[in-house]
Amino acid sequence: MVNLEVKLSNLRFKNPVLVASGTFGWGIEYNRFFDIGLLGGVIVKGLSLNPRQGNPPPRIVETPCGMLNSIGLQNIGLEKFVSEVLPQFDSIRTNLIVNIYGSEIGEFVELAGRLNNYKQIAALEINVSCPNVKAGGAAFGKDPEVVFVLISSIKKVCDKTIIVKLTPNVTDIALIAQAAQSAKADAVSLINTLTGMIIDTKTKKPFLGNKFGGLSGPAIYPVGLKMVYETYEKVNIPIIGVGGIYNADVAVQYILAGASMIQIGTANFVEPDISLKIIEGIRRYLEDEEIDDVNKLVGLAHN
Ligand code: FUM
Repeated sequence: MVNLEVKLSNLRFKNPVLVASGTFGWGIEYNRFFDIGLLGGVIVKGLSLNPRQGNPPPRIVETPCGMLNSIGLQNIGLEKFVSEVLPQFDSIRTNLIVNIYGSEIGEFVELAGRLNNYKQIAALEINVSCPNVKAGGAAFGKDPEVVFVLISSIKKVCDKTIIVKLTPNVTDIALIAQAAQSAKADAVSLINTLTGMIIDTKTKKPFLGNKFGGLSGPAIYPVGLKMVYETYEKVNIPIIGVGGIYNADVAVQYILAGASMIQIGTANFVEPDISLKIIEGIRRYLEDEEIDDVNKLVGLAHN
């Protein structure tokens, strides 16, 4: 028997595998296909105070070994989320993590404060990394001072576990992780998408309605892995690795690089129950390697 249980601040996760925001809807839809209670946790699509329509179409395009998205954080807004989605999580036995977005600091803080009242929510993932919006998002996440002020302000109104999702579109991601740590974030998740574009040679114009998008999928995993590896050497708070994980081998690589937990994103679009296979694959790896606890793997790639 191997132990897959992981602790993050005051939370227990039955295994280190989460599903990434924006790739798993509101989570609950997937319960028709498999028991989402088997996952370590579910991170829902970025939520804002008010509903958002998102960016003009087309908003998604496939790329070699990946995809570009420019959704623009379309979502139903806080009110509908708490009245229609949250009650459905009463009977789900996994950790619900809400990814939140605000176009200004006050909006983030109000949203975090209001979500603090709901017992179904285990943690908030603060989205300072969406590349597809004009205000907030990655614009905040590129500046360590803004990250520090934002997370400190959220911590004053919300005592849930706070995870900060970081953008790779910076010179030094570890510097941003350090700012989150100084503001008493409980963990950082990295990486969000890399910015990119596709040009349609027939129209001779950018393919995506918003011109640019965020690249995800297997193509980006070596980038994410390096950033997790480097960040692990600069912070003491747990790292949640995300970016192109599509099988258990890549998941294990992220853990060896320093991730305490991992998120499965774009691979959900290809195989909705891929996370369950990855959980089993991690278990088998530990058995084969005769390691009795997944926590013992974390950071082993470092000297
Ligand atoms: O455009 C989007 O909704 C993407 C969000 C994100 O990358 O966080």
